Amino acid sequence: MTDAIRPLIAGNWKMNGLRASTAEFEAMLAGAGSVAAKADLLVCPPGTLIAAFADKARGAKNLAIGAQDCHPKASGAHTGDISAEMLADSGAGAVIVGHSERRADHGESDGLVRQKAEAAWRAGLTAIVCIGETQAQRDAGQTLDICRGQLTGSLPDKATSGNLVVAYEPVWAIGTGLTPTSGDVEQIHKFIRELLIARLNGEGAKIRILYGGSVKPSNARELMAIANVNGALIGGASLKAADFLAIAGSYA
Ligand code: 13P
Repeated sequence: MTDAIRPLIAGNWKMNGLRASTAEFEAMLAGAGSVAAKADLLVCPPGTLIAAFADKARGAKNLAIGAQDCHPKASGAHTGDISAEMLADSGAGAVIVGHSERRADHGESDGLVRQKAEAAWRAGLTAIVCIGETQAQRDAGQTLDICRGQLTGSLPDKATSGNLVVAYEPVWAIGTGLTPTSGDVEQIHKFIRELLIARLNGEGAKIRILYGGSVKPSNARELMAIANVNGALIGGASLKAADFLAIAGSYA
């Protein structure tokens, strides 16, 4: 059923990258063609680099530019915030919403994440909605309950495989070098798939579910081969073209 889903390899640069990083991005662009037949690539740099990267990526077949967050409103008196419309205007095609770092650093609730996903759609962007449990929640055996709650609360109605990507990112695996076992990833992604189908019927079967958290060239092949893992959301390893392309090359 999910075998036909085209994988997405997405890089989240977080608060990293200066204009000098353009050379690294150009190396990604140059290598993208080698995986074009098998996977889509997305690079989400900090907002300051979106327009420059999007200009360079114009015309690229399988490499798009995304953003890391947006405000729910289209414009207005919200100092320091960026709207989805502004991101689209800068050349972004997608935006990550509800990343655990924003949920933790900025107290973002499921309800706010849902509004941000709706804002992304209003601007014509794909929303990449992140969910995932903390170490304490995992230790308490709450992983599936947390994922269900976050997915239910963060996902707007009318989600389709064209406007939504879900990223499962266990908080304890982010930036730590730790990853869940393949068995755990399989169980949780299957659970997310079933929730998506229960809510969205046929579209739920086609929505991409990414795994994120310490994905590296050395573990990507095993992780990407798991049922219902339709790609990766990569932090640290997405900053280096060689690593990012090697992970994407798990499909080549
Ligand atoms: P790392 O790949 O650095 O663990 O980060 C994952 C992540 O948070 C991507 O959004």
